[in-house]
Amino acid sequence: MTSLKPILSHIDNIPSTPGKFKPDKSSLYYLHHRFRLHSTLPRIAFWTLVFLAFISVFFFMSPPSTTAPRRGLRTTASYGGSGWENQVKASAKIRSRNGHSVLVTGAAGFVGAHASLALKRRGDGVVGLDNFNSYYDITLKKSRKSQLLDRAGVFVIDGDINDAVLLRKLFGLVHFTHVLHLAAQAGVRYAMVNPNSYIKSNVDGFVNLLEVAKSTNPQPAIVWASSSSVYGLNSKVPFSEKDRTDQPASLYAATKKAGEEIAHTYNHIYGLSITGLRFFTVYGPWGRPDMAYFFFTKDILKRRPISIFEGPDHGTVARDFTYIDDIVKGCLSALDTAKKSTGSGGKKKGEAQFRIINLGNTSPVSVNKLVSILEKLLKVKAKKKVVLMPRNGDVPFTHANISLARKELGYRPTTDLEAELNQGMCLEHFLRV
Ligand SMILES: NC(=O)c1ccc[n+]([C@@H]2O[C@H](COP(=O)([O-])OP(=O)(O)OC[C@H]3O[C@@H](n4cnc5c(N)ncnc54)[C@H](O)[C@@H]3O)[C@@H](O)[C@H]2O)c1
Repeated sequence: MTSLKPILSHIDNIPSTPGKFKPDKSSLYYLHHRFRLHSTLPRIAFWTLVFLAFISVFFFMSPPSTTAPRRGLRTTASYGGSGWENQVKASAKIRSRNGHSVLVTGAAGFVGAHASLALKRRGDGVVGLDNFNSYYDITLKKSRKSQLLDRAGVFVIDGDINDAVLLRKLFGLVHFTHVLHLAAQAGVRYAMVNPNSYIKSNVDGFVNLLEVAKSTNPQPAIVWASSSSVYGLNSKVPFSEKDRTDQPASLYAATKKAGEEIAHTYNHIYGLSITGLRFFTVYGPWGRPDMAYFFFTKDILKRRPISIFEGPDHGTVARDFTYIDDIVKGCLSALDTAKKSTGSGGKKKGEAQFRIINLGNTSPVSVNKLVSILEKLLKVKAKKKVVLMPRNGDVPFTHANISLARKELGYRPTTDLEAELNQGMCLEHFLRV
């Protein structure tokens, strides 16, 4: 069996990025040569061993990771213990009258960190969950945890929404009244690099979470992040919840749209109260480094050329930039207005609330305008290169109709992109990370 070592040692080297794994044949040649050199062994023994080697490889080889890459692997066994359980319970403790106990997934993310903090500050119990994947710099996620969440007393568990054992354990420890589900593989362009990470987190992970939530007694109400990207190729503006969303332009959008349909199914069959919020380009301090305003700032300061996209026929590319505080207010209001789920232990007992609501700013800003604001603030002239927007998943224009959010959530965004950037809060933070 020692001859199998060269083959089995390759199992440890399987790259976590799907698509990059190519089986290395050298080990088999090595094995073959050894057996030819020692031709005393009958051929049949050789082929039996080769066969056994293949069986062993397939048996022991776990499939390559399809989530965004992570550092290290944890097993469920590393959760638990009375100290850990006490931290979970303490973090979930409600400290205000009529407060909620909320499980926030994606808590170390941009929106998750801000929302967790806001909930904790007003006296809700909050437990965070995040897998700290390396889609973008993990240091930023860790800093949000240590500098914002740890200090506020929000316990963030390093775990995955695909881990049903962990989720059941958490729901067993705490009666969560609500789940604010923000964990997802975000970003439009990365879907062409690592498509499976979108399926793993945005589809598989969401179903796993809903499966556990629907079996809990009593069931929590779910508020989750969909995206303006579901409007895809829709050209009717402003985008209303009644508009068609069956023409996604990216796999990211397709998984968010799938999430909306999946959510409807769990609402219909199991009585889970579910609100999907379609966020429109969120910006602010501690923001995501893959967003245009972030890398434009860096490139302008480094005097590097920046690509300004234009749509077909020289059409303007614009985004309905929405400030993080407005988005957080919308999330909290969605939690507050969420009706109770009607099912329990997997059985529906009546119709439950189902909502899909836009959270935008209703004032799109063109890329040209964004760049000129940055130029003014940074006091550096950008080296602009106008290029036709590539077909990589981006859409030319987003603009939210927020009448439903106004009616349902009392949502009134108050922050203007230029005024906010002028205050320097966002930029100051960009330059530090
Ligand atoms: N920021 C925006 O402009 C925007 C726009 C539309 C929709 N959204 C949606 O809002 C939500 C939050 O976005 P964000 O900007 O904070 O992104 P983010 O990437 O900063 O946060 C998402 C967090 O989820 C975690 N995560 C990913 N997969 C996970 C998994 N399987 N298990 C546990 N944790 C996992 C990541 O580590 C990350 O910290 C996402 O669902 C995103 O799709 C964001």
